Amino acid sequence: MCMGRVVTVLNQKGGVGKTTVTLGFASAAAAAGHRVLVVDLDPQASSTWVLGVDPAEVETSTAEVLVRSSAEKAMVPSAWGDDVWVLPASHRLTARDHGGNPARLGEALAEVSDQFHAVLVDCPPSLGALTTAGLTAADHAVIVVEPSALSLRGIGAVADLVDEVWDAYNAELELTGVIVNKVPAWSSEAERRLDELVRTVGKRAIWQPAIPQRVIVNQAIGERRPIHSYGARSYDVSESFDKLWAKLRRIMARQSD
Ligand SMILES: Nc1ncnc2c1ncn2[C@@H]1O[C@H](COP(=O)(O)OP(=O)(O)O)[C@@H](O)[C@H]1O
Ligand SMILES: [Mg+2]
Repeated sequence: MCMGRVVTVLNQKGGVGKTTVTLGFASAAAAAGHRVLVVDLDPQASSTWVLGVDPAEVETSTAEVLVRSSAEKAMVPSAWGDDVWVLPASHRLTARDHGGNPARLGEALAEVSDQFHAVLVDCPPSLGALTTAGLTAADHAVIVVEPSALSLRGIGAVADLVDEVWDAYNAELELTGVIVNKVPAWSSEAERRLDELVRTVGKRAIWQPAIPQRVIVNQAIGERRPIHSYGARSYDVSESFDKLWAKLRRIMARQSD
């Protein structure tokens, strides 16, 4: 059996770039000819929408998979090409952020994960039942932060939830890394926050490179396009995601030895 492919991207704070990083990985994967499934656990359905699927039209969404539907039935090809598939969110997910069986999502994903190089789970900005299900399904937890005081304040609670899920439901789970997003070209405040992050989580936990703050990232989300489709205009951002994707691939390969 192939292990280690489910990667859950989380932070309780909204707007830090969970969706951007999930979709940046998907864009880098497709550019490298790798197949990925994006699993949208956020009731706001941002990744679903950016991947070209209208959440209002979705019949079988992650909300149904969390109860009993199969992932095979729910997943659909995205508008980004044959290599990127999506297990779409719907507004019905709102009702799933408490209670339920945390193991159910992982069981559903296990039936389809060997069709993909990675399964990327995009979490809502909370530490409730949806994020718990995302972590219970995961082999790798990746925390996204931005170099601001408010973003770093909540990181302890996020790491605690990873620990709790590891303890209660999923001994395979690893806190694989912290990705720093929206790094301004020059800011002493951001630099101070990065130093603080290094002291909190340790240098090794923080993945390189960090993702720069760029208008093109916002534009790509708004235009529902992969960041790699902008060529030279997004070169430094695309290259950052290529490196992060390569790092994730190395870690996954090491685990399946
Ligand atoms: N590196 C970046 N540079 C510029 N804007 C960014 C960057 N990363 C994210 N954004 C913007 O910030 C907003 C929040 O990002 P998003 O990925 O939706 O966060 P989350 O999923 O954590 O709520 C979006 O409008 C997105 O386009
Ligand atoms: Mg999001």
